[in-house]
This record gives sequence, structure tokens and C-alpha cells, in this order.
Amino acid sequence: MNFVGQKKNIQINNLVTGGAGFLGSNLIDFLIKNEENVLCIDDLSSGTLDNLKHLKNNKKFEFKKHDIREPFLFEGRIDKIWHFACPPVPNIYKIEPLSTLDINYTGTLNLLNLAKKCNSKILLTSTSEIYGNTRINPQYENMPVDLLTYNPRACYSEGKRIAETLFFAFERLYGLKIRVARIFNTYGPKLKMNDGRVISNFINFSLSNKNLIVNGDGSQTRSFCFIDDMVIGLVKLMGSDYNLPLNLGNPEEISIIELAKLIKRKTNSSSEIEFRPTIKEEPFLRRPSIELAERVLTWQPKVSLETGLNKTIDYFKKQ
Ligand SMILES: NC(=O)c1ccc[n+]([C@@H]2O[C@H](COP(=O)([O-])OP(=O)(O)OC[C@H]3O[C@@H](n4cnc5c(N)ncnc54)[C@H](O)[C@@H]3O)[C@@H](O)[C@H]2O)c1
Repeated sequence: MNFVGQKKNIQINNLVTGGAGFLGSNLIDFLIKNEENVLCIDDLSSGTLDNLKHLKNNKKFEFKKHDIREPFLFEGRIDKIWHFACPPVPNIYKIEPLSTLDINYTGTLNLLNLAKKCNSKILLTSTSEIYGNTRINPQYENMPVDLLTYNPRACYSEGKRIAETLFFAFERLYGLKIRVARIFNTYGPKLKMNDGRVISNFINFSLSNKNLIVNGDGSQTRSFCFIDDMVIGLVKLMGSDYNLPLNLGNPEEISIIELAKLIKRKTNSSSEIEFRPTIKEEPFLRRPSIELAERVLTWQPKVSLETGLNKTIDYFKKQ
């Protein structure tokens, strides 16, 4: 199908921004399996067409290289817009703070205008980083946050805050149907091996018997959600009537040192654990309260860390 170009008044089911990335491409697979059509736009800055190559000849799928900081020209109706496009990791956004802010402001504004024009429901993938460096654990949706504008990660957390604020402004002004997912660390197949996220790093380095770097004493915690659970959560949220921010993640919490040991054991690796100084701006605790998601979506993650890691390690071995 040709979704974009000469034809006018075409109707599509899904527009996915950032669909060549980890989360977006996994969602696209789910939507296509469910017989929906998908138009993906991505500037390929951190994503890759390898994640979508199996869909190359699929008539229900189309890809357009596009930077969302420019308006996307489309005539017709789009049922659902899934907004993933954003640099997701400190390795990128700390060195590109201005474009990160711009993608979150100008890019999000462009998509909201598109949703208004095309009569679409639109979902934002916001982040747990919005809670800042809190000691409140678990993190729940309306808790006080501890964010500093001069933290080198602020371009991302404040960027996502302005994106959320834009969403609520469009809802108030134009009655737009919006959904806001606050996503906690997610992992699984299609994660980039070298993007600096802790699970990719530990698996990648364990498989090549390189040292696993742990900052501080490793007692900082994270909670990791397997991608299949996250996709179901996002689909349920999009299908729901819930229009306030909602946490999606797995509340199973693990310290970074325990994670390093677990991955080392699972990969049978001879890697050493190397301790480096604490990175001050890094959050110390991350665990979602998912009470709201359980109540309004009847959603709970099902895949344990053990099972999810096995699948992710298998994927990395094949790469
Ligand atoms: N993976 C996680 O654990 C996690 C946690 C919280 C929030 N999120 C959010 O989910 C979204 C997807 O994250 P991911 O892990 O899949 O990252 P990813 O890097 O794999 O995907 C992001 C995609 O957006 C594209 N992109 C970036 N800037 C763009 C632009 N200006 N125009 C068009 N495309 C652009 C990239 O090329 C990439 O394909 C991000 O918005 C991220 O902030 C992810």
C-alpha cells in the first residue's frame, strides 16, 4: 500500500514515530501481526532499518525517513499515532542536549498538530526519568519530583516533561484524545548492542569476556520490563479511556551489582566486575508503582527477569 504521496484522503491505522528503534519496531511487529497497517517515520539517528527489514515487502507496512522536527505532510485520517521518536540514552542526549530538547518540543508539537488535523488518538512514550533523583520508592504517578535543570540529563527529563505538558495543552484546547505512558527500563530483542544501556552493556561485555563496569558500589537499583510485556501495556493504554500519565514497567527490583553477577552467570562469562566512581547525576532508585496500570488496564508484566534475560542473551548471541 502507498500511504504517502499522491493519494489523498487515505485512512491508515497507525503512524509510529521512531519505529526503527527498539520499542517502536517491536510494537510494529505486534500491530502487523494483528492485521493493522502501519506507517513508520524515523530519521534513523539511533534506530536501524535492520529492525524492519522483514517487513520490506509487506503491503501493510511503509517506511519514510523523516525528522519529526519538520512537519510531516499527510492528507487523510490516522487512527492512532504512537510517538517514540527521541534519543533515549544518556550517551546520546548528554552530548546533544539542544537537539534532544528540540525533538521533544518542536517534534512533539508537530505530531500533536498532525493528530489534530488527522483526527487521531496519540500516545506519548514518556519516561521514569521524569521522577528525577528521588528517594521515594516505588515511584508513583503524582509524587513530588526531584529534578535539577542543571543536571546533564535534564535535556531528556525536562524534554519529556515539556512533551507531556504539550499533550495536556492540546487535550484542554482541542479535546485531542491523548495517552501518556511513563516507561521504566525496558529490554529485550532488538536492543542495540552498543548503545550504553546497562543490560546491553553487561550482555555484550559478558559475551566477549570484557570487564563489566559498575559505577559506585553497585547498590543502586533498577527494575527491568521485558519488551513483550511493555508492548501489551502500551496497546492496552492506547485502547483505554485513561488520559493521565500512567507508569508502565516491571516492579521486580534488582541492584546493578546483582544484575552484573546474574548476567555473568547466565553467559558463563569470565568477565571481571570493575568498580568505577559513582556518577552523581544518575538516579539511585528505580521501581514503578504499577497499581494504576493494574487497576485501569488490568495489566501486569508476566515475564520474569530470568526468562527475559535468556531471550535477550539468545538474541545478542545471534547478532
Ligand atoms: N527503552 C526504554 O527503556 C525506555 C524507557 C523510557 C522511555 N523510553 C522512550 O521510548 C522511546 C523509544 O525508545 P527506544 O528505547 O526504542 O529507543 P531507540 O533509540 O531504539 O528508538 C528511538 C527512535 O527514534 C528515532 N528518532 C530519534 N530522533 C528522531 C527524530 N528527530 N525524528 C525521527 N526519528 C527520530 C531514532 O532513530 C530511533 O529509531 C523514546 O522516546 C524513549 O525516550 C524508552
